[in-house]
Amino acid sequence: MWILAHRGASKAAPENTLKAFKLAFEQHADGIEFDTYELDSEIIVFHDKTLRRTTNGKGRLLDKSLSYLRGLNAGDNQQIPLLCEVLTLAPASALCNIEIKHLQATNTWLQKLESVCPAVNQPNNNLLISSFHHHWLAQIAQQKPNLRIGVLTASMPQEGITKAVKMQAYSIHFALENIDERYVVQAKEAGLKVLVYTVDTPADMLKLQKMGVDGIFTNVPDVAKSTLNALPTATTS
Ligand code: G3P
Ligand code: CA
Repeated sequence: MWILAHRGASKAAPENTLKAFKLAFEQHADGIEFDTYELDSEIIVFHDKTLRRTTNGKGRLLDKSLSYLRGLNAGDNQQIPLLCEVLTLAPASALCNIEIKHLQATNTWLQKLESVCPAVNQPNNNLLISSFHHHWLAQIAQQKPNLRIGVLTASMPQEGITKAVKMQAYSIHFALENIDERYVVQAKEAGLKVLVYTVDTPADMLKLQKMGVDGIFTNVPDVAKSTLNALPTATTS
């Protein structure tokens, strides 16, 4: 079962920072998940719509300039990272799940992605693009068939499976609170990989492993590693 560090190793280091991603790989995570916003000139890595919870800034993220945002402390003197910085830090074999919280337009978003990661056009690249905004995913899937698409679901897992099948997604991402073995079986029979968020207790990790889930998003990749006794050999194909 893949261990994907949710916002990096975000229990031990500030979420969505280079420090958290580096620590995740030191803890042998198979990949990382992180949240993104498209600004005019960059894609930046950040979770909330507002700055207060995780930085020393305040106000709405999208109202600020890139230079203001880059001057903030996102915890432990970390900057809010750019997408290119995170992708550069990740080992070549690691799965990088880019969750889109906001984009301006799918074509400008794809141009920015391609400029920092030319591999988007190659098959079996290690990117996985997810979002709760399924219409963006459908557009991206059409424009870049070599990108893996992950359909994020919260309270409507059944609807998520239907949409994922329709857009020929790579994976479906279920919330732990709404997971049911029936959905796992149904999604896998439809050829989807099944990933579950956010899984931080050994009991849940073992339960999901038994259900046949393909991967978990966890804030504690070290705990997952020791619980699942997984070797750092997972492949993402
Ligand atoms: O991608 C899984 C999970 O991160 C989705 O929820 O709110 O933590 O971004 P959230
Ligand atoms: Ca996320």
